[in-house]
Amino acid sequence: MKARIAVFVSGGGTNLQALIDAQGRELISGKIALVVSNNADAYALERAKKAGIATEVVLKKDYISQEAFEEKLKDILALHGIDLIVLAGFMTILTEQFTSCYPKRIINVHPSLIPSFCGEGFYGLRVHRAALDYGVKVTGATVHFVNELCDGGEIIAQKSVEILPGDTPEILQRRVMEQAEWVLLPQAAEKVCASILGGK
Ligand code: GAR
Repeated sequence: MKARIAVFVSGGGTNLQALIDAQGRELISGKIALVVSNNADAYALERAKKAGIATEVVLKKDYISQEAFEEKLKDILALHGIDLIVLAGFMTILTEQFTSCYPKRIINVHPSLIPSFCGEGFYGLRVHRAALDYGVKVTGATVHFVNELCDGGEIIAQKSVEILPGDTPEILQRRVMEQAEWVLLPQAAEKVCASILGGK
């Protein structure tokens, strides 16, 4: 028996790729059964197709309300029998109406050491720009459970990454991905899969 994982994406999907690679190396006891994107052009969709994973595109603009958008997501998850949702660069906020349906069943990767540089407005390169503007010498990544508070759920894992002289947001983003996100996310996903299976 394997926990069935849905990965939510919006962009390049390098974190999705890290999960696919970990699955290929049998480091994840779950199965990535579905990739959901809120952006039809996301390269992550190509990565999913190459790996033979089912994909769904759900565009917010096609729904009259956030509630209707989230209801559609829930329907798709039910259809695919999903146990765990991994937000991997999913650039839209999910409300309590959605998150409360999956307690401790949604995890997110954030590119800073929460509680620094997180919350509304902190996503993607903006996070790294804020860290550089502040002048911190260490940043990193966090994987946490998702609840109704933006970046506010219980922390599962964190890893620090050094900031070096001459860093730009792009250089720092790459280092945080390589040294922290791509390592932590598969490990955290596995930890949660194992606990889901233990409870089944
Ligand atoms: C990653 O750095 C992820 O941590 C970040 O977006 C990037 C997605 O890259 N997520 C957030 O900022 C969420 N607040 P990817 O599409 O290559 O995985």
